[in-house]
Amino acid sequence: QAFAVAADANHSVATEIASLIRQRQADGRQCVLGLATGSTPLGVYAELIGMHRDEGLSFANVVTFNLDEYFPMRPDAPQSYHRFMNENLVDHIDIDPANVHIPYGLLSTGAVDEFCHNYEQLIDDSGGIDLQLLGIGRTGHIGFNEPGSDRSSLTRLVQLNSVTRVDAASDFAGVDNVPQWAITMGVQTILDSRRIRLLAFGKHKAPIVARAAAGKQSDSVPATFLQNHVDVRYLLDSDAASEL
Ligand code: GLP
Repeated sequence: QAFAVAADANHSVATEIASLIRQRQADGRQCVLGLATGSTPLGVYAELIGMHRDEGLSFANVVTFNLDEYFPMRPDAPQSYHRFMNENLVDHIDIDPANVHIPYGLLSTGAVDEFCHNYEQLIDDSGGIDLQLLGIGRTGHIGFNEPGSDRSSLTRLVQLNSVTRVDAASDFAGVDNVPQWAITMGVQTILDSRRIRLLAFGKHKAPIVARAAAGKQSDSVPATFLQNHVDVRYLLDSDAASEL
């Protein structure tokens, strides 16, 4: 679905998330959200903070799971996704910090597999993700599932693609400082979500959006695996939709 401007797409997703949260509240149930980082979801988070402030939208029944984190990465480092989520959402809403889950970037290498297994278990124990928010990288990655990621992949340690590291270079004052690794939910973890909402804005995303939404399904563009999901929506601005 193409919107005239990104703000309209952000408003559409934020409204959907808010109504899901309220619906679950009315039923006395938790709402489980899968969250993303990067510049793309910032507008949605700003809208949700505004709804909390102005309309009293409560996040008391919300549980979140983030897609990914660089590895290694200190949680308080400027580029950490822990810090990103605190600054851009968590610190501004009434969510219980114990309900916020983000892959941890400071594990010893020997502890990573068990952490990833537990992350999957926590998602299952929560009842599964109701709505997963996604951006897309220029390589067609979702989370940090780079080209070559299996459709059946789960949360795991992955090596970052050189294109992705170049794209992150400005955040790290040079590509050499960008971590080589990340912990990411897998493609299967993402596909298990009940709803998937992928946001993409800007001309630079147009080629990969076209391949992701309309190209042949293949692990060379992991986002193509979303095509078969029963409830996926691509929310684009006119620039990102321009090659469809
Ligand atoms: C990073 C994140 C992805 C995100 C991508 C695009 O690689 N791990 O989840 O989708 O960047 O970032 P941006 O939204 O800034 O274009």
